[in-house]
Amino acid sequence: MKKRILTGITTTGIPHIGNYIGAIRPAIEFAKGSDESFFFLADYHSIIKNNNSTEISASVKNIALAWLSCGLDTETTYFYRQSDVPEILELSWILNCITSKGLMNRAHAYKAAISENDKDVDKGINMGLFSYPILMAADILMFDTTHVPVGSDQIQHLEMTRDIAARFNHIYDQLFTLPEPIIQKEDKVVPGLDGRKMSKSYQNIIPLLESEKKLKKSIMKIVTNSLEPGVPKDYKNCTVFELYKNFANEKEISLLKDSYEDGISWGEVKEVLFNAINHELTPVRDKYAEFVNDESLINDLLSDGAKKARILAKEKISKIREVIGIKRIS
Ligand code: TRP
Repeated sequence: MKKRILTGITTTGIPHIGNYIGAIRPAIEFAKGSDESFFFLADYHSIIKNNNSTEISASVKNIALAWLSCGLDTETTYFYRQSDVPEILELSWILNCITSKGLMNRAHAYKAAISENDKDVDKGINMGLFSYPILMAADILMFDTTHVPVGSDQIQHLEMTRDIAARFNHIYDQLFTLPEPIIQKEDKVVPGLDGRKMSKSYQNIIPLLESEKKLKKSIMKIVTNSLEPGVPKDYKNCTVFELYKNFANEKEISLLKDSYEDGISWGEVKEVLFNAINHELTPVRDKYAEFVNDESLINDLLSDGAKKARILAKEKISKIREVIGIKRIS
């Protein structure tokens, strides 16, 4: 069977170094080792938590730019917006009708949201949030995906996708492939400026697509302890070191460990980190400059991607409609 990988990126916020290390860079690598790969902007997922249309459309543009600037090859992969493939929403409804409510009640993201409420457990919960895993299942099952690279927070969603697929196959016909997760190692949690997981909601991000100057400014803000230059420092549990590991080879990493022991100053160690990140991001920034003011090019690439994806989606949805009995009267 062909190896088909698929991954979606929710279009909220601006792309940061954590997205780059955790999702974009490995996905582009996976694409090289797969027969086919699908990368899409999960814009219908993004409206679950954000009603600000300006923010949503800006994020769609920025996230598309991030993938394109990082060297995604749109010729050899499928790169599209979820909303440009309406068959996904159609499938999502069909899957809603075979998914038990109890399965959704168990979703971690939903449980976390209701646990913050006291008297009215449903406060602030919309149906999109509740059925989020079903739309995600539709994204995946639409294209007979065999592998989905996921962070540990998404493993349960993959299990639910498999449950939903198996249930459909059992009730109707064996139309769906059960996808396997490709689980990222735990140490891949990328720390942000304050040492917690880099995330828009903690406001501790290092942006991906900014100028060299802003990148440096941001790195200089990483929180460290106040040990003076010349005093040996511990590289363990150090945010600067943790980030550096993602941009350096074994030899460079061990050299930096030595420097910590020799009492490198925080200013110098941040300079080392800046140079490593900046070196890797220079070609990304150059590509970004080519794309950023060419909206029509971005739109064309996305609509070409959607056209390719829809050929597969239309074929699949017509088989699905047939087996569930939504078909020509005969
Ligand atoms: N839920 C994923 C996230 O928040 C985004 C996503 C939507 C996705 N659909 C997907 C990921 C399908 C993988 C496959 O990160």
